Amino acid sequence: MVCIELMKLEGKRILILGCGGMLGQAMYHTLRTANTVLATDIDINEGWLEYLDVTAADSLLKTCKEFLPDVIINLAACTDLEFCEAHPVASSLVNYEGQVNVCHAAIAVDATVMYVSTAGVFDGSKDYYTDYDIPSPRSMYGKAKYNAEKYTAQALKKYFIFRAGWMMGGGHKDKKFVKKIFDKIQNGEKDIFIVEDKAGSPTYTWDFAVSASHVLATSRYGLYNMCCQGGGTRLEVASELLRYIAPDAGIHLYGVSSDFFKSQYYAPRPASEKLENTKLSEMGMIYMRDWRVCLREYTAHLLAMQRVTAE
Ligand SMILES: NC(=O)c1ccc[n+]([C@@H]2O[C@H](COP(=O)([O-])OP(=O)(O)OC[C@H]3O[C@@H](n4cnc5c(N)ncnc54)[C@H](OP(=O)(O)O)[C@@H]3O)[C@@H](O)[C@H]2O)c1
Repeated sequence: MVCIELMKLEGKRILILGCGGMLGQAMYHTLRTANTVLATDIDINEGWLEYLDVTAADSLLKTCKEFLPDVIINLAACTDLEFCEAHPVASSLVNYEGQVNVCHAAIAVDATVMYVSTAGVFDGSKDYYTDYDIPSPRSMYGKAKYNAEKYTAQALKKYFIFRAGWMMGGGHKDKKFVKKIFDKIQNGEKDIFIVEDKAGSPTYTWDFAVSASHVLATSRYGLYNMCCQGGGTRLEVASELLRYIAPDAGIHLYGVSSDFFKSQYYAPRPASEKLENTKLSEMGMIYMRDWRVCLREYTAHLLAMQRVTAE
């Protein structure tokens, strides 16, 4: 194992695109104190955001030429798999062509690019995927993300692609599985049906942001898996969540197959999206904790937020 001297990204000019979402929140707050950050999105849901659409190539280029970023972080995405499946052109416009625009702008100003991809580029036939496995995406979302990965790797020398797993951590911005189950439990649902034939690696946005900031400070360009350590099925994640917040509330989680939800969640999802942080481990750069530790921390945060709202 090679141990890289601990470095953090500092003193850089960083343009973040799609920063109004759940990962953007963590990336912004992690990077802003030691760097000059311009945070942008099409959804201006924070005072610190400015409007910028990654599909508007000219505006993106203009902003880059004015701001002169050292690093461009592209988080802009359509992450609703069902929307992407039903609207593949719109999905590709943001998830692929947006990244093409980012690459062109980065070349014009000689910036490093960070792109966040997904375990959904795999077909799920393996249990755990390393950074070296060959993708074979099934969903429109996964295809657009993989196309963006390939384009980035061909177009740029100074790039980082980080493949994340099931994201959690956005608080009120979290639209994903953990928050959905948290809300069901808090809303008093007593019988909750959870898929047990799909597995993944939860990825805590705050750990991801710290991990990314360390890797970005190196010149070890390339593609990395970046998720919490370990993995589990949707049912295992939900069971852990229930154990933390309401173990004695008489709530029953029922394991079901994906077919149970097939009219609601019709986009193809791999049986396994579990990732191993193989390269980060080889480099001695593991900043992502075990998913259960992160889930417990996130759950405590959600409960605290709820108490504040109730007061
Ligand atoms: N969420 C996950 O489980 C997950 C897993 C693996 C990888 N990722 C990747 O991680 C990155 C960040 O995802 P996230 O979870 O933070 O998603 P998110 O919460 O949906 O945030 C994405 C943000 O991008 C914005 N956006 C959409 N189209 C845009 C455009 N044309 N120009 C600029 N901004 C635009 C969205 O605005 P609107 O809300 O108005 O559309 C949203 O604010 C994405 O690349 C995603 O593919 C996510």
